[in-house]
Amino acid sequence: MSGGSLVRSAVGIDDISVYIPRLYLELADESRPEKPTEFSLSRKSDPSKYLHGIGIAKMSIPDTYQDSAVLAANAILELMDRNNVHPASLARIDIATETGVDESKPVAAYVHGMLEQRYGKGSLKRTSGVEYKFACVSTADALESSLDWAWAGRSNGRNSIICATDIARYPLSSPGEPTQGAGAVALLVKEDPRLLTIDPVIGTHMEDEDDFWRPLFSTTAVVHGKHSERCYLRAMEGAVDDWAEQAVASGIIKAGPSESLVDHVGPMSFHVPYPKMAEKGFAYLLRHFWRGLPRWKNILGEIGDEPRMDSYKTREEFEKAEADYMKRFMETHQFQTEYLDKVADGLVHARESGNSYSASEKSCLSMLLETKATRGTDLAGKRGGSGNYGSGCKAKASSWTVQEEWATIAKKFGHAEKLRHRRSLSLAEYEILHEGKPFPDGRKFVAEPENEFVLVDVTSQGYRHYKFAD
Ligand code: CAA
Repeated sequence: MSGGSLVRSAVGIDDISVYIPRLYLELADESRPEKPTEFSLSRKSDPSKYLHGIGIAKMSIPDTYQDSAVLAANAILELMDRNNVHPASLARIDIATETGVDESKPVAAYVHGMLEQRYGKGSLKRTSGVEYKFACVSTADALESSLDWAWAGRSNGRNSIICATDIARYPLSSPGEPTQGAGAVALLVKEDPRLLTIDPVIGTHMEDEDDFWRPLFSTTAVVHGKHSERCYLRAMEGAVDDWAEQAVASGIIKAGPSESLVDHVGPMSFHVPYPKMAEKGFAYLLRHFWRGLPRWKNILGEIGDEPRMDSYKTREEFEKAEADYMKRFMETHQFQTEYLDKVADGLVHARESGNSYSASEKSCLSMLLETKATRGTDLAGKRGGSGNYGSGCKAKASSWTVQEEWATIAKKFGHAEKLRHRRSLSLAEYEILHEGKPFPDGRKFVAEPENEFVLVDVTSQGYRHYKFAD
């Protein structure tokens, strides 16, 4: 402490590793969007709805030997190997998930066991771990806790790993089905990170909502789809408002008279249940932050005034007008310029892999940074932002500063490469995996495990055994 104010060390994300299951189901052919796919034919739908309406072309599907613990352990192992992380240097390995494997034993404990199979029994005995749950937003909570711990000066030179892991599953033939996906993303969190430092300013918005949940008796989620979209927009705006108030009060950002705070934030990553949702979320934020600025007058001149609830007889009519207005705004040159510059690159992950719930936003961040690095974009010193949303519902908004070495680190993520090297599933294979049924030809899995952790069995008492398959 000095002069009554806390001097915080620079803490943030040093490296990111993404684990993407090697199986996917094609919803739409990106080179020929009008061409029917096995999935679109069976669901009597138009493949362009998947590609253009929601923005997903492929959904990642785990194999029979993969659960959320396996996905997490694989992501963490890659992160530790790539950075030569010594197990003793880790004070905590926390897991964020909404598809945990046990009501009591956290995924963190199973992951601990898997990692100790590689690094030696007892190698992580002084490393703590816990499972965070709040739908898709718990990754932000887990990260915030690690940051608080480091900012409070309690890390004593040790680091932490946050890993988000999930398998998104809705009933077959339900509206949510084409937004499934799976994956894990691990973050190495430390002082003086090479990738990004995180601002000690985090915005929150929380309400008790019935937009999406998964009861204890169900393996698939229940969702009020349209309501969940409204909850996403409202909560994200609330969290960004909270972040903005703190960012201004603490002097992190000073916006000039005709500027918006968003002008001071460059690359942005969002929770991406499907790319169109994140694009709409960004549009909603821009409308919110641009209202009243000189540029907003030009936009109103182009697309007319925003709909007002009191001009419509019913809420449905207002919502229809609001949806039409949003579409018109998203077609403006002003929106498109901001969207392509700041957001679009990160959404490619969800287009190619679907929703990975808690892993979604940081997978979006990984894709965004890798793509910008590969393209040679200069981001060093720039401020970026992240928006997390979890049904139920809560949103978190945070900001970060890109570090000098970021491009060297981001180019090694191997994210695009992992998306390229996958195997396509037939509809029949997908449905068998989805329903957990045996394959009629006696196969135990679809793809041979390749140097990765696998689930070996689940005992009659529900205990899970894992091993590393060389
Ligand atoms: N070509 C192009 N676009 C088409 C089309 C076609 N042939 N046919 C339809 N579309 C468009 C529609 O116009 C619509 O666009 P707008 O939303 O811009 O109007 C879009 O495709 C979706 O079509 P529908 O309106 O018919 O919607 P749906 O019944 O297919 O359901 C959904 C869509 C609600 C997102 C559903 O997939 C769902 O319930 N998903 C799960 C819930 C979810 O992801 N919610 C997001 C917020 S909650 C969250 O973020 C947490 C989380 O991870 C779950």
